[in-house]
Amino acid sequence: MLRVPFSLLLLMMMTAAAPAGPGDRETGGDNERGAPRSRGRSESIELPKPDRDGELSVEQALERRRSVREYSDEPLTLAELGQLLWAAQGITEPRRGFRAAPSAGATFPMEVYAAVGEVEDVPAGLYRYLPDGHRIERVAEGDHRPALFEAGLRQAPLAEAPLVLAFTAVVQRTASRYGARAERYVQIEAGHLSQNIYLQCEALGLGTVAIGAFHDDELSRALALDDGERPLYLMPVGRPR
Ligand SMILES: Cc1cc2nc3c(=O)[nH]c(=O)nc-3n(C[C@H](O)[C@H](O)[C@H](O)COP(=O)(O)O)c2cc1C
Repeated sequence: MLRVPFSLLLLMMMTAAAPAGPGDRETGGDNERGAPRSRGRSESIELPKPDRDGELSVEQALERRRSVREYSDEPLTLAELGQLLWAAQGITEPRRGFRAAPSAGATFPMEVYAAVGEVEDVPAGLYRYLPDGHRIERVAEGDHRPALFEAGLRQAPLAEAPLVLAFTAVVQRTASRYGARAERYVQIEAGHLSQNIYLQCEALGLGTVAIGAFHDDELSRALALDDGERPLYLMPVGRPR
């Protein structure tokens, strides 16, 4: 008998009838922190609790880390997706809402998107990570990897990885405190997230590569970003071939 996981059932129940293609966003508007906001139909998947007790030491992960550009066809698991998102932006100090990566003045300009192709229990689509509650919210249906591949100068890892993470920044969150220097800060922050993903991949036996070569406008369209949100980095993730 086909076993439908609860998370998938939940998503199916909450999915509105109107289909949306890649780039056709299901969420919109800005809240007070400049975050893309849900339209009230909370279509989200709760992620498994992250593992905080992996076996690989930081030193081993640092030494072994290499950029990996070829992946097997095997899907990722929901637990792996959750672990990666937690490594990028998970809340590690709930009292103050501080996260796995440092942020200038704790202004938290970064958004993390997951272009899901082949992840168990998660329908293909574009999802946004919600650190509060450690959840993902679907922002558009359909496989967005081909659009990211085109925007990313047709680099093969973007088409072949089961999952592509995209880091963006809502610069105004940081600019409201640091002015013009925010442009620099958000780029530095993207580097922090990226290194966390590299190291987390190493600990999970996964492979990734940081991709900075892409057409900004085309990638913004593929992710259906609002005007104030800037794409900074792409990271395809898969099992090394
Ligand atoms: C800012 C930045 C942009 C990068 N952009 C790309 C890219 O567009 N495509 C790619 O294949 N690798 C990209 N890389 C990965 C580098 O090519 C890679 O880190 C370098 O070859 C060293 O290999 P290693 O990561 O295995 O140590 C980028 C790395 C950085 C830091």
